[in-house]
Amino acid sequence: MTDRSRRPFIVGTGIAGLYVALRVRELGLKPVLLTKARLEESNTRYAQGGIAAAIGADDSPRLHLEDTLRAGGDLVDRTAAKILTEEAPLRIADLVRYGVPFDTIEGQIQLGREAAHSRSRILHAGGDATGLSIEETIRQRVLDLGVEVRERCVLRALRPLAAGVIEATVSNAEGGETETLDAAPVVLASGGAGSLFRQSSNPPVATGDGMAIAFRAGALLTDMEFVQFHPTTFCREGAPRFLITEALRGEGAVLLNEAGERFMPDVHPDAELAPRDVVARAIVAEIERSGAPCVYLDATRVPRDRLYARFPSVSRFLAAFGLDLARDRIPVAPAAHYTVGGVATDHEARTSIPGLYAVGEVACTGVHGANRLGSNSLLEGLVFGEHAARQLVHPAPGGPAMPARRLVLAWPPGSGWAGSDDDLQAIKDGLWEFVGIVRSAAGLQEAIGLLERIGRRSEPSDPSKPPSDVANAALTGWLIAEAALARTESRGAHFRQDWPRPRAVWNRHLGLLAAAAVRRDRTKGRRRSRPAAPKPRR
Ligand code: SIN
Repeated sequence: MTDRSRRPFIVGTGIAGLYVALRVRELGLKPVLLTKARLEESNTRYAQGGIAAAIGADDSPRLHLEDTLRAGGDLVDRTAAKILTEEAPLRIADLVRYGVPFDTIEGQIQLGREAAHSRSRILHAGGDATGLSIEETIRQRVLDLGVEVRERCVLRALRPLAAGVIEATVSNAEGGETETLDAAPVVLASGGAGSLFRQSSNPPVATGDGMAIAFRAGALLTDMEFVQFHPTTFCREGAPRFLITEALRGEGAVLLNEAGERFMPDVHPDAELAPRDVVARAIVAEIERSGAPCVYLDATRVPRDRLYARFPSVSRFLAAFGLDLARDRIPVAPAAHYTVGGVATDHEARTSIPGLYAVGEVACTGVHGANRLGSNSLLEGLVFGEHAARQLVHPAPGGPAMPARRLVLAWPPGSGWAGSDDDLQAIKDGLWEFVGIVRSAAGLQEAIGLLERIGRRSEPSDPSKPPSDVANAALTGWLIAEAALARTESRGAHFRQDWPRPRAVWNRHLGLLAAAAVRRDRTKGRRRSRPAAPKPRR
């Protein structure tokens, strides 16, 4: 029986949070939607390329599944990917019903091509304003249904209570006054950690705080080492790393080095449409070879009218810098884009803590394996958002399986000083330098040392006090670095210079658990599966 008086708290207002709120409301509950910024601010609105779904006459969910499995480097959870690809057309039909204005041609939805997709299956809206169009439509629907929204309300801590309810501590955006909300189920839809890297395509809100908060509360995290770097973001001193969508390469744009030569055909048979990690590393190699800060995207062979119609946001952005897609080579370089790992969930968005759910980029269902196929992320928010909504209405026990490999990690207690802007910048610099596109044991250890030093300063000395933004940033960055150090191989988005190939022993997921939470569980006599002995560091 559903208790309709329970009001689930949904944290985050990207596609995942908005969609869960919308569906939960439609199914009869009254959710409360919390966001640390304004309702409309999230990573979703910057998503350009689109949303993948096998709706074309030459396509099928099976082909979409095969492409998703191939992109994910043998680590994709097959069931999750099957759910994603089979339910994609249903969720697209929902979006059409809600009024998302997908671009059409002669009454048919237009489908674009992106890297590593074997078919044209990328739906877009407003040309390259897909995320924005979807977000605006769902947001309006959420408001029309009277969902309670609390803006500038920052989640600070979660405390699991009995009976599948969670106590959530929140504060205002300045970190002042804290408040403990009524205990309820909580859905983390708080997004990824891309903006913790100095170069990032993400907006500043993408700081991975949901991951840090869930870890402290004792939730299992998985696959944190896999951070996807987008190959082509705008690269000019002082300008933001604006995304220059992969769909441009899907339309025929090519990459040129400093000498004006194409280099991707020598790197991969699919050239500019090779998997993202391959293109990103090839660009880094060109940049290192030439000493130039960037390479160039050349779309001048794509018809001018097509460029302006299909890429209005990119065209507008470039015009502000005096550049024209139809005439100029665009300076581009890679930047952090998507956090593949996160709070471990099963296929129903249940985490390892009863009553705590996670959806979208903050979550890790295993659907992306070691590398996400482009345009599967908006889709993930919808498909697993639907599963989360149904669970909230009809909860059932469950949760993610414990991965074969796990690390039990002790994050140092701090001195309770909140940390400074300089600390935040040091975290971003350290992650970019040492936990970026090309990693090594020495660099990762350097990053871990730096993040622990910042953690020791900024983590609360009294565990009942809520952590600051800096403490959360340091902890999430540290979890990424620890996982990257442990995975002694290269696979998908994770590349280790000192272990440059995949290794069969690592054909498995890596779980991360807080030592304090494991101790708490033991004391309660509710033993989790035995934690692995900490691995010796190389
Ligand atoms: C892009 O438009 O290139 C990014 C799309 C995505 O990350 O899914």
